[in-house]
Amino acid sequence: VPEKDLSGLTVIVTAGPTVEPIDPVRYLSNRSSGKMGYAMACAAARRGARVILISGPTSLKPPHGVELIRVETALQMYDAVMEHFPGADVVVKSAAVADYRPKAVSPQKIKKHGRDLTIELEKNPDILAELGRRKKHQILVGFAAETEELETNARQKLESKNLDLLVANDVTQPGAGFGSDTNIARLVYPGGRTVPLPKMDKLLLAHRILDEVQALRKVQQ
Ligand code: C5P
Repeated sequence: VPEKDLSGLTVIVTAGPTVEPIDPVRYLSNRSSGKMGYAMACAAARRGARVILISGPTSLKPPHGVELIRVETALQMYDAVMEHFPGADVVVKSAAVADYRPKAVSPQKIKKHGRDLTIELEKNPDILAELGRRKKHQILVGFAAETEELETNARQKLESKNLDLLVANDVTQPGAGFGSDTNIARLVYPGGRTVPLPKMDKLLLAHRILDEVQALRKVQQ
């Protein structure tokens, strides 16, 4: 039985992909399974936190004791996160938010024709970067799934989004990233310190990340 070391804290966790509609039957999305985010929510709830899990569509069962808010698009996720942010102590952004959405959603199914089809995309807001601008006492944890230049990209994201911790993983490695029950992560801190972690179960990694969050809160106090 884990220690209830997060009791009294409100933790927002985002998880899963977002889906961006093209027309009533089609969408743009990505390969996120939601497993890392659900593991984060499960671990935080077991440690006594009030957990608000804001999730895109996944096939996972929500963990016991979490408040689940289901969303589909990045804009819906943005609204849900901003609504709960002022009352939160920790935000863990494990969702794979679509960077772009179709500029116009066709009200009818798009018919095929003999020519090529172009779908114009519009940039979605960066939810975590906005939290970085608004943050007061909150601890912000980001995730970065990379396929190249892991450390450089991770440091750049940590700084540009004003994060307290970034969990970077190379999704091209076997046993890391999308769909897998395990992950191989590197913790990246402001100032450049990084801690490589071995391949571990996503639930164990979630607890490890929450240990780091606790350490960051102690430094802040
Ligand atoms: O997509 P990127 O690699 O920049 O994602 C890094 C972090 O930023 C992740 O924690 C992700 O959830 C978050 N993010 C976000 N809103 C976006 C894009 C990414 O909150 N539009």
